Amino acid sequence: MVVTSDEITLKVENLRAYYTSKKGLVKAVNNVSFEIRKGESVGLFGESGAGKTSVALAILGMFEHLSRYYASTAANEENKRLWTLKDEARKKGLTSDVFGEELPGIEGHIWFKGKDLVTLDENEYRRLLGDEITYVPQGTTKSLNPYSNIEEQTSEVLWVHDEDNELKDWQVMKRVLQTLDLVELGDVDIRKDMKPSQFSVGEDQRVLIAMALVSLPALMIADEPTTAMDVGVQNRVLDAIQIVRNELNISMLLISNNQGTIAKTCDKVGVMTAGHIVEFGDTIRVLNSPGHPFTRAFIMSNPSMELIRKIKEKGLRIRGIPGNPPDLAEQHVGCPFSERCEYAQDICRERIPEYREIEPDYWILCHRYEELPEW
Ligand SMILES: Nc1ncnc2c1ncn2[C@@H]1O[C@H](COP(=O)(O)OP(=O)(O)OP(=O)(O)O)[C@@H](O)[C@H]1O
Ligand code: SF4
Ligand SMILES: [Mg+2]
Repeated sequence: MVVTSDEITLKVENLRAYYTSKKGLVKAVNNVSFEIRKGESVGLFGESGAGKTSVALAILGMFEHLSRYYASTAANEENKRLWTLKDEARKKGLTSDVFGEELPGIEGHIWFKGKDLVTLDENEYRRLLGDEITYVPQGTTKSLNPYSNIEEQTSEVLWVHDEDNELKDWQVMKRVLQTLDLVELGDVDIRKDMKPSQFSVGEDQRVLIAMALVSLPALMIADEPTTAMDVGVQNRVLDAIQIVRNELNISMLLISNNQGTIAKTCDKVGVMTAGHIVEFGDTIRVLNSPGHPFTRAFIMSNPSMELIRKIKEKGLRIRGIPGNPPDLAEQHVGCPFSERCEYAQDICRERIPEYREIEPDYWILCHRYEELPEW
């Protein structure tokens, strides 16, 4: 199918995002490409440290700020030099490859409504964030203000972006109540006046989701929206996300290392390890018949009940991924999974695989995909 740009909310192209650290550059995101169509929900799924949050921070224009901040607190001369070089290269419009040295920060393209977000300045980003692109951060409910009631907090974003003073009090109130109702907070007429501490953790999380939705954004990014919640609360939060998506047709990027969360909320999923998306496609396909050795190993390390049955039927063993993820601050040649992959051959250790579209909307980063045993 030919997709026009009107149908694509976000298109990430060859995104690279490198932090600076005491050990040098940390290659958190490497040549990541994917797109989110209108009303579609895409998940980023993978092990801890894979670069999922870094992708979100890059889209939100926060990656370089955070990275420069940490670099300045470390007061490391080499880091300062690298960021000075980055500024020079950017002024000249040069990428690392042309500049001749690997540089920190963002490279690549992040297309949103015809604009490349990588080129936006702070003011342009400020107009976009909280309005057209919203974020439910990882680590969550601490970002609510304990001293202000939830109606004030949810309406704030609408007032901030009402630059031409067009909104009326009653319009804002109506939208806030509708959104709180949509995330199934219950009795919103009364509870809108309550403070975050008067809600449960799951309810606070749903307030955060309402805050990210009240502006009717084109894209909502939610990073681990159900971490540290018991299963019942998780389900209610995920149900709220689903209801909202169906009602409002908002595009979503949802980050999680939980298979159930991804299965429940995402149309498509990108599986990440060591800063790369190694498999991308329809969620049911990727989770039920994963094609990439990393996806298989990752799913096997924390299998669903259905998979446990399948594994037993086939007489296989449930096991974790052997070894540790590669240190992203070290130089790495070849496939990002080669040190832990049971199918690795010389070529895997020598050359990074090409990210290939095996069939429409199904992508794989593996030299040996066609030769792997069926799952
Ligand atoms: N400010 C920073 N400075 C240097 N390195 C960082 C910084 N923040 C993250 N990293 C490193 O970047 C890599 C990717 O981290 P990121 O937080 O994006 O992973 P993640 O997939 O979101 O992990 P998790 O599932 O644990 O949240 C990791 O190796 C991490 O240690
Ligand atoms: S490229 Fe090689 S090492 Fe990497 S996942 Fe495929 S088979 Fe394994
Ligand atoms: Mg994260």
